[in-house]
Amino acid sequence: MTILVTGGAGFIGSNFVLEWLASTDEPVVNLDKLTYAGNLENLSAAQVNASHLFVHGDVGDRTLLKQLLDKQAPRAIVHFAAESHVDRSIHGPREFIDTNVLGTFALLEEARDFLRKLAPAAQESFRFVHVSTDEVYGSLGPADPPFSETTAYAPNSPYAASKAASDHLVRAYHATYGLPAIITNCSNNYGPHQFPEKLVPLVILNAISGKPLPVYGDGANVRDWLFVQDHCAALRLVLARGRPGETYNIGGSSERSNLDVVKAVCALLDEAKPHRKHNHADLITFVADRPGHDRRYAIDAAKIARELGWRPAESFESGLRKTVAWYLDNPEWVAHVASGAYRGWIEKNYGKRGSA
Ligand code: NAD
Ligand code: TYD
Repeated sequence: MTILVTGGAGFIGSNFVLEWLASTDEPVVNLDKLTYAGNLENLSAAQVNASHLFVHGDVGDRTLLKQLLDKQAPRAIVHFAAESHVDRSIHGPREFIDTNVLGTFALLEEARDFLRKLAPAAQESFRFVHVSTDEVYGSLGPADPPFSETTAYAPNSPYAASKAASDHLVRAYHATYGLPAIITNCSNNYGPHQFPEKLVPLVILNAISGKPLPVYGDGANVRDWLFVQDHCAALRLVLARGRPGETYNIGGSSERSNLDVVKAVCALLDEAKPHRKHNHADLITFVADRPGHDRRYAIDAAKIARELGWRPAESFESGLRKTVAWYLDNPEWVAHVASGAYRGWIEKNYGKRGSA
């Protein structure tokens, strides 16, 4: 028995892989293209584990996918690989279509082909878990109820549109071809290994080095925040007991305005690493808003709680405290990401490693 994870060198995928290896002996094959967001230093603890096979490759490469599926014969696929940053999608949407839409299409086609060759019992127990986002649902007003699994899709950024397209393909492969697929739509994650282009790590690292903390617009946009390990726990449950053809919303029931998130990070840093001359919040700088900036996201996670018994273990306060501590405790990871050295290191050490 083995599972195939895509995008397992990124933020959420690497947390998932490390927790998987810590909690089971079942091997994991990890296919990742190592874009700027993929960092093998996220997986250093897993590189010596014989149950982890890293494969450097593109989820859109059908020849590689076919070889990998035939040789490794996974019992499940957990699909994280994606371009994931909204601001990048605004500046250059092309990669988002290539990986999120066409890459997912390639994976679905190869999974379907692989499944055809399996015995009926193995076909039935196979799972394709598609890891998606709450951003597909668009933007809420202040008094709107949170997103449920039946909320109509209304993506507003190229990122959200590309994820929505991939969700639709996954849904169609279940309905049309009987692929035992499950979609999860999760709220904003934060935690160890997040690339510092996203709000929480960007603010932590800028604040430590005395740089401005950029808050878009009026800072009143609201997100629902979830600690990454709680997301990974939900995904393990969905993989084990989720019903094929279903969608599960995952969220932290922790709505916070961006300004409140930034202030909370600053307060933790004032405590852990006080600055002699200023409070970290003095660095807050309001900057031009993101175009098409969704005002509010909120998740109704009642279905996954009811059906699978999932609830987050961390509150926003406890998860954020752990996150700030992780960035302070891992200056080498931070330095390699900041300097870009993690990429040189990857090429030097792993460029030729990994094969199907
Ligand atoms: P990330 O950007 O940190 O990591 C993405 C990983 O995918 C990287 O390791 C990258 O190298 C890899 N990748 C990119 N293109 C690839 C390709 N063509 N082939 C193979 N690998 C490729 O992203 P993340 O934050 O870990 O998000 C993982 C998944 O979870 C994404 O599908 C994202 O849409 C979804 N999601 C993220 C959040 C969040 O808050 N970060 C919330 C909900 C859902
Ligand atoms: P981000 O971490 O990019 O996640 P997403 O766009 O997927 O929600 O941004 C979270 C929120 O923080 C979003 O409303 C945009 C805002 N933001 C800032 O105000 N300043 C920043 O520098 C960044 C990166 C984001």
